[in-house]
Amino acid sequence: MCGIVGVVGSRNATDILIQGLQKLEYRGYDSSGIFVTDEEHNEHLIKAVGRISELQRKIGIDVNGTTGIGHTRWATHGKPTENNAHPHVSESGRFVLVHNGVIENFLEIKNEYLEGHHFLGQTDTEVAVHLIGKFVEEDGMTTKEAFCKALDIIVGSFAFVMIDKEEPDTLYVGKNKSPLLVALGNGYNMVCSDAMAMIRETHDFLEIHDGERVIVKADSVEILNEAGELVSREPFVAELDLSDIGKGTYPYYMMKEIDEQPAVMRRISSKYTDENGNVVVDSEIVQAVNDSDRVYIVACGTSYHAGWASKMFFEKMTEIPVEVHLASEFGYNIPLLSKKPLFIFLSQSGETADSRQVLVKVSKLGHKVLTITNVAGSTLSREADYTMLLHAGPEIAVASTKAYTAQIATMAVLAKTVGVFRKNTIAEEFDLTKELGLVANAMSAVVAEKEVIEAITAENLLTTRNAFYIGRGNDYYVSMEAALKMKEISYIQCEGFAAGELKHGTIALIEDGTPVLAMISQKEVAAHTRGNVMEVLSRGANTIVISSEECAEVGDDFVINTVHPFLTTLAMVVPAQLIAYYATLQRGLDVDKPRNLAKSVTVE
Ligand code: M6R
Repeated sequence: MCGIVGVVGSRNATDILIQGLQKLEYRGYDSSGIFVTDEEHNEHLIKAVGRISELQRKIGIDVNGTTGIGHTRWATHGKPTENNAHPHVSESGRFVLVHNGVIENFLEIKNEYLEGHHFLGQTDTEVAVHLIGKFVEEDGMTTKEAFCKALDIIVGSFAFVMIDKEEPDTLYVGKNKSPLLVALGNGYNMVCSDAMAMIRETHDFLEIHDGERVIVKADSVEILNEAGELVSREPFVAELDLSDIGKGTYPYYMMKEIDEQPAVMRRISSKYTDENGNVVVDSEIVQAVNDSDRVYIVACGTSYHAGWASKMFFEKMTEIPVEVHLASEFGYNIPLLSKKPLFIFLSQSGETADSRQVLVKVSKLGHKVLTITNVAGSTLSREADYTMLLHAGPEIAVASTKAYTAQIATMAVLAKTVGVFRKNTIAEEFDLTKELGLVANAMSAVVAEKEVIEAITAENLLTTRNAFYIGRGNDYYVSMEAALKMKEISYIQCEGFAAGELKHGTIALIEDGTPVLAMISQKEVAAHTRGNVMEVLSRGANTIVISSEECAEVGDDFVINTVHPFLTTLAMVVPAQLIAYYATLQRGLDVDKPRNLAKSVTVE
C-alpha cells in the first residue's frame, strides 16, 4: 500500500527519495510523487501516474535539494491521477504533505473549517494539508501549533510528513495506526514507512508511537507526546540486509521466494531448537497457550489460509480447540468467546489494518494476544503480549509464498512445544526437526522440476478464464491458498473447493475444458477425491492431479514426496505456487506487481 519517504539535510534529496520509493515499490501503488527544496527555496513538485520510472522520466537534472518528501499512492479516495497523487499542497501552496492511511472525518473537516477552499483532487489528504494551512494563514498559529492541532482533529489512520516551504530545514511528522519510522543518518535524517526504504542509508531507526508529533531536522529529532511533552527514545538497529531485498539473478522475487522455502524450513527448525536438540519456544508463550481453553487464529488472505492449514495438527498435539477467523469479519461481529481465549494473529507484514483492529479490540477486552509475523518491531508485534518470528527473510513479491509455509511451520513449532508441555503423546512422538527436514527435501524436489510444472501449466491453463482446485482436509485448505495464488497474479478466476462440496452446487460450472486441479495427499480420503475427479471428468473438465507418493496412481500429473500427514500443505502448496507463477508469465503479466494489490494492506 502507500509508501512514504522523507529526508532533511542531505546533499542529494532527490536520489535518496527515489531510491527509497523504489524499495517501497513492492508494496503496490498506482502513482507517485516527490517534493524537494533547499535553503535557497528552489522548489520542485513532481508527480506521475504509473511506475516510479514514469516519475523518474519527469525529473530533470535541476531537480535537487537538501530536503524532500516522496510518496507512492495506492488509490483509496479518488482515481489514480496526477492531481490525486501526493505530495499535496495547501490552498496557498506553502505547505506540502504526504500521507498514508485514511482520514475518516475528512468531509466533516472540509465542511466545518474549509469553506471557500479549492481542491485539486478528491483525496482525504488534501483536506489535511488545507486544514494546517488555514490554521497558520487564517488563524495565525505557528506551523507546529497548526500541525499538532490538525492531528488532534483528524480521526482515522495516518502517517504524515509535511514541509513548510518557509522552513526548508524541517520535516513535521506524525502518526496514528499507520507505520512510520525516523531513520538516523550522519548529518542528515530521514523518515520512512518501512525500514527497507532507507536501509541503504542507515541501520539505525527510531520508532514513532501513535499520537506522537516529531520535528525532524538534519541533526536533531524532537519527539513530543500528545500532551506536548518531550519524549526520549533510544534508536534500534534494523536487522535487514541489502542482499536480502535484492532479486539476485532471479527474474522475479516470487520465484526467488518459492526457491527459498526449503532453506526457510531448516532455518525455522534451527531458530526454535536449543543446544540439546529440543524444540523450544519462550516459556511465557507456552504457558499462555496452555492456560487457554480455546485458540482463535485471526488473519487475512494467505495468512488466514495458513491458519486453516495449522488447525488440525494444533488440535491434535495440544488438545485445545482452534477456531480460524477472517480479521475483517471477526472485529465487527465478535462471536461468543470461550472463558479463556488466546488470540493468535498470523501476519507476514505485521501491519495489516484488518488484523490490527481486532487485536486492539480483544486486547481491550483483556485477552492475551500472540502475533506470529515475519517483521520484528511491526505494529502487530509491538501491540501483542507475545511475538514469534517467522525467520523467512523479507518477502517482497505481493503473492505470499515463503511466509505461508513459514507460518505453518512456526505454528507446528508452537503446537509441538505446547503439546510436549501438556504431555500429549502425539506431540511427544512427533519429531518436528526430522519432519521439517523431510518437508524441505520434498520442496526441493518440487522446485527441481520446475520445467515439468511449467509444461503442465502451458498445456492446461494458457487460455482458460477460470479454474478450480479441489481437495479434502489439508488438501482443501491448500486448495484455498492455491486458488488465491492463481487469481491474484494470473487473473484466472479460480476457486478452491472442498472436493465433496462440488456436487452440492459448483459442479454446475464445469464445462468442456474447465481446468480442475485435484490435490490428493491424504490416504483416508484419496478414493473419495478420485471419485470427484471422475465426476468432473465425465462432465468435460480438464483434470490435473497432484498427489503425494503414498496416494499416487499411474497417470497423475505431478507427484510430491510423502511428508508427515500434519505437514502435507507445506509440500503440496509448492507446485500450486509454481503453477500460478507460470500461468502469469505465460500470459505476459508482471508476476511481482499484480494489478490493484498491495503487499502490506494498511487500510481496512
Ligand atoms: O501481511 P499479512 O500476512 O497480514 O497479509 C495478509 C494478506 O493481505 C496477504 O496474505 C495477501 O492475501 C497475500 N498477498 C496473498 O498472496
